[in-house]
Amino acid sequence: MSSPQAAEAEGLIVVRGLEQNFGGVRAVAGVSFSIEKGRITGLIGPNGAGKSTTLDMIAGATRPSAGTISFQGRDITRLAAYQRARLGIVRTFQSSSEFARLTVMENLLVAAPRLRGERLVGALLGRWYWREEEQLAVERARELLRRFEMTAKEDEYAGDLSGGQKRLLEIMRGLMAEPEVLLLDEPMAGVNPSLARRIETYLLELHHSGLTAIMVEHELGTVERLCDPVIVMAEGRVLRQGTMPELRRSREVLDAYLIG
Ligand SMILES: Nc1ncnc2c1ncn2[C@@H]1O[C@H](COP(=O)(O)OP(=O)(O)OP(=O)(O)O)[C@@H](O)[C@H]1O
Ligand SMILES: [Mg+2]
Repeated sequence: MSSPQAAEAEGLIVVRGLEQNFGGVRAVAGVSFSIEKGRITGLIGPNGAGKSTTLDMIAGATRPSAGTISFQGRDITRLAAYQRARLGIVRTFQSSSEFARLTVMENLLVAAPRLRGERLVGALLGRWYWREEEQLAVERARELLRRFEMTAKEDEYAGDLSGGQKRLLEIMRGLMAEPEVLLLDEPMAGVNPSLARRIETYLLELHHSGLTAIMVEHELGTVERLCDPVIVMAEGRVLRQGTMPELRRSREVLDAYLIG
């Protein structure tokens, strides 16, 4: 027997009736969907559809005007962004958010979780304990740099990177936190086609090693190669959900977005 509740319980993230009003603007007007573990779920739709606002609400950057968000079966609607990040919900931004005057390595280290340090025992054990934690973070950062072919940039200032390399750093910073679910807002925006393909390859590899993500993306070829399922939003609502080939056959989706 599978009741609607049982089906929902399977979702890693379940949003129900999400709304966001900015003054008079209904940016998100009642959105419900379920995100499954181990999948990259695409979020597409025309400009102003409410995609980024939906990600903001899931990340906790803004409180919904109405609706609920649950994560691993727990209601997180009232948790602050940092509390959600601690649970493993980590977002990247549509524009890069690196610290220009820190090196690439330093940018990665400040994005590492400090879970052990928050415990009293960390303070009591003192400096060697911190060093061990830092060493693990450095190793993780180096592994990401290798994976993203950025090893040579480790000691450069983040502010000196190219636009495309900043996008890579943004994704690596998200991954430093070892997220349960990564929220990607247009991770390839403004990068050249060859780097976009590289980012795609990296995300596909991460997907194969179990990454769960929600990805907002305009380039539909990329969405088709990376995302299943795909949620189409328009005017603050979910129009349809399906695989990209299914959506391409949908009259409603074609009218609202694909050729609209
Ligand atoms: N802080 C805000 N204050 C007022 N209106 C906002 C705010 N943020 C977003 N909006 C409005 O809400 C609507 C949805 O915006 P949102 O950024 O979520 O769309 P989007 O789907 O991410 O679009 P894009 O593809 O252009 O990034 C738009 O009409 C936008 O102008
Ligand atoms: Mg957006």
